[in-house]
Amino acid sequence: MEQAARMRKRGQINIVLKKQTEEDPLLSHQESDMLEKPEHMAYKQVQQELDEFIGLSTIKQFMKEIYAWIYLNQKRQEEGLIAGKQVFHMVFKGNPGTGKTTVARLIAKLFRDMGVLEKGHLIEAERADLVGEYIGHTAQKTRELVKKAIGGILFVDEAYSLARGGEKDFGKEAIDTLVKAMEDQQHSFVLILAGYPKEMDRFLKLNPGLPSRFPMKVTFPNYTIDELTKMARKMVKERDYQLDSRAEATLQDILKITKDKDEEHFSNGRFIRNLLERSIRNQAVRLLEEGKYKKEDLMTLKGIDLSHAYFDTDVKMD
Ligand SMILES: Nc1ncnc2c1ncn2[C@@H]1O[C@H](COP(=O)(O)OP(=O)(O)O)[C@@H](O)[C@H]1O
Ligand SMILES: [Mg+2]
Repeated sequence: MEQAARMRKRGQINIVLKKQTEEDPLLSHQESDMLEKPEHMAYKQVQQELDEFIGLSTIKQFMKEIYAWIYLNQKRQEEGLIAGKQVFHMVFKGNPGTGKTTVARLIAKLFRDMGVLEKGHLIEAERADLVGEYIGHTAQKTRELVKKAIGGILFVDEAYSLARGGEKDFGKEAIDTLVKAMEDQQHSFVLILAGYPKEMDRFLKLNPGLPSRFPMKVTFPNYTIDELTKMARKMVKERDYQLDSRAEATLQDILKITKDKDEEHFSNGRFIRNLLERSIRNQAVRLLEEGKYKKEDLMTLKGIDLSHAYFDTDVKMD
């Protein structure tokens, strides 16, 4: 198992992986018992939801960190101590399908339950939702989106695309408007910028005013083949299907080929979901042709259903 550690650098938090050691105080029994208390219900619920997901150990740790941070700040306020200014804007770096949107939704809920955000909803947006077609249009569109996100989280996917066209592009106007909104409405919404790791790094470097406004940066790693296989088992089970042993072996071959080909753009959970949905359609055609309708047949996905889904299709799998 792995566990997250923090590295503080110029007031920023970076989540990095580290091997878990037995004496790690963050995982001691005493603390887990403490967190069982009813006052920590909000945290418990989020952890329970996260436990449904495969892997994500760094994220589980990250959620604990933000929970502790907010909770302790509230306690400090009660004691009349200086309560640090808490800025929750975040950058999520990771490939598609690594759980960014899912986690953003959970954070929104946690923030609502802890009184940080009033509503706790999530507005997902991308370049086209922010950038307009003429001068002034972009600022107006962006402001309208921010308005919708008040009380919740504004999640901008593939945020680096806002810097695509350089100085003359309206994307820059969207960034400026977002930054202004972050200042004017600091505590009424949380902004999360998300995207591929390399592109996000470049984007932040090109906009030197930005990194300091996003104190929390979280990296969502690609899932391992083992984790993806577990995810597939879970997804088929939820749909009342099962993978036979050939299907599991085929799945692992497919994952290996796909990751080797282009790991940088591999779409993780989304790839699994698309592959399985297509496999289910292939299985239906196969069973129809074979005239087999026993319960066992109806439930079982075979290796051939998966390989057809992957190899014999002109539909792009992303
Ligand atoms: N750890 C996980 N366990 C199970 N399913 C997952 C996991 N991570 C992602 N998924 C599934 O993959 C899909 C994409 O997840 P999402 O949160 O939209 O990723 P992103 O926003 O990074 O593209 C969803 O169907 C989600 O349920
Ligand atoms: Mg997403």
